[in-house]
Amino acid sequence: MHLVSPSLLSADFGNLQREIEMLNESACDWLHVDVMDGVFVPNISFGQPVVKHIKKHARKPLDVHLMIVDPGRYVNGFREAGADILTVHYEACTHLDRTIHAIKDAGMKAGVVLNPHTPVALLEDIVQECDLVLLMSVNPGFGGQKFIENTYAKVRQLRELCDRKNPQCLIEIDGGVNVTNAPLLYEAGADVLVAGNAVFKSPDPKQTIIDLK
Ligand code: DX5
Ligand code: ZN
Repeated sequence: MHLVSPSLLSADFGNLQREIEMLNESACDWLHVDVMDGVFVPNISFGQPVVKHIKKHARKPLDVHLMIVDPGRYVNGFREAGADILTVHYEACTHLDRTIHAIKDAGMKAGVVLNPHTPVALLEDIVQECDLVLLMSVNPGFGGQKFIENTYAKVRQLRELCDRKNPQCLIEIDGGVNVTNAPLLYEAGADVLVAGNAVFKSPDPKQTIIDLK
């Protein structure tokens, strides 16, 4: 499967409705929504009220990436705001199994995110519960950063783990994705690519989405 989830973090926040309508008309599959609390990551983005407005205009599933401490506290809040897929960081959850089940019980697809330094092997006892795993290919917090090359090896390890324990689980990659590394990521076993700057700073975002697929 080759899915593309453009990250709204790189969109023009003053014209969010227009940006979402462009994505509605594009070939993208999901809308990636980055929530940052200024504690788990150095940056602050936006919370549920903004997600609610994004939902009002979006005609594609919202892929909400929580970069916040203790995300279990906000599962129902983001469901109410309109999240379809909710991903939480391994590094931010003390009771990850509980949080993953809470996300599924609330009616969303559940994903675990790994920072670049967190080994894939730590997913051994949780991957069977996940609808997707998101590998960070930059240190989270900002758009427009350089892709970390070690990600290819991690994608291959994760593909192997998923084939063994949960073949349905999707592999998503986030950070520094562009039209050059996209084919290599799919080849390594990725299913979903997040792209912020590559889409929104491109002269033709819709064509870039097609190229990424
Ligand atoms: C980074 C965010 C990403 C970011 C990707 O912390 O999780 O989703 O918006 O942006 P690019 O594709 O520009 O690296
Ligand atoms: Zn993200």
